[in-house]
Amino acid sequence: MSEKSVAIVGATGAVGIEFIQVMEKLNFPVSKLKLLASKRSAGKKLKFRGEDCIVEETSHDSFKNVDIALFSAGSPISRHYADIVKESGCVMIDNSSAFRMEPDVPLVIPEINPEDANNHHGIISNPNCSTIIMLMAVYPIYKKYRVKRIVLSTYQAASGAGWEAMEELRKASLAHLNNEPFEQKIMPHPYAFNLFSHNSKMLENGYNEEEMKTFKETRKILHDSTINITATCVRVPVFRAHSESINLEFVEMAPSVEECRTLLANFPGVQVVDDRQNNTFPMPLDASGKYECLVGRIRKDESLPEKAINLFVCGDQLLKGAALNAVQIALLLV
Ligand code: A2P
Repeated sequence: MSEKSVAIVGATGAVGIEFIQVMEKLNFPVSKLKLLASKRSAGKKLKFRGEDCIVEETSHDSFKNVDIALFSAGSPISRHYADIVKESGCVMIDNSSAFRMEPDVPLVIPEINPEDANNHHGIISNPNCSTIIMLMAVYPIYKKYRVKRIVLSTYQAASGAGWEAMEELRKASLAHLNNEPFEQKIMPHPYAFNLFSHNSKMLENGYNEEEMKTFKETRKILHDSTINITATCVRVPVFRAHSESINLEFVEMAPSVEECRTLLANFPGVQVVDDRQNNTFPMPLDASGKYECLVGRIRKDESLPEKAINLFVCGDQLLKGAALNAVQIALLLV
């Protein structure tokens, strides 16, 4: 493996911090690591492999002699630097939604469509966190049995809205327990001990953007223009792991529960947690900090027993839903 010079844009954010830790854990072959953020963070120190690394302000010169740039600072920042990154001969791996649906930008989950990464033109997009976590549970079964339709309901953590949202949830929870007033600034509705429809933009068809992303991105990743998805995405007061209820309807007969369990258990990045006897199934607390997505509640859909099954998945939004998947993409390039 050849060593690469890597830059992380958004290094001080919730995903950025995880980029650094995942690169350490996966022994990513780094010749030089550049940590970039906004002007506010310039001079801050973060550790990489036990050494202090000083955060720099991102500028147009930041990408000279950089091979791979991992971006997680939001769509406007990714858009702003995309051409400069490409002109520097550097490959951008972008966690934002800025380029995901562009035809010449691969959208990659390395366990599912790694070969797509070869067709990049300077940018590879990391899919939306809910899409990644859903497909980690769906794909092992989909690969063998054609799926016609997915009904998805998500229970999404605060981390998807960044570090400030996690901090707001912590403070709002404390205030609620102490009977003190609390003014939400990041989330649009009271978050502690509550839940609400996903805070992404509401569209004309009555779906929100997050829900439509799961549909469009799935078709692109699977190269399947026939699969249908209807999603309901909800924010729940959980810090960092998303949970998702999935109903899969098949074109032909549905596979047996045993077959699904075996396919899932043999898939890299998935851990089956399906203990009916002890009523123990995937939980966001157990998925937090884990690289694997936990899948359980594997059962026939009694309303359509010949054709459909149900699953429940929990995955760490900051890891497989973001940083881990992006670093795995970067590893495809070395
Ligand atoms: P900073 O900490 O300096 O504001 P999160 O997703 O957790 O909200 O984090 C967002 C990340 O994006 C942070 O690292 C933040 O840096 C970074 N960021 C925000 N604005 C800019 C900018 N103009 N240029 C580069 N990075 C930015």
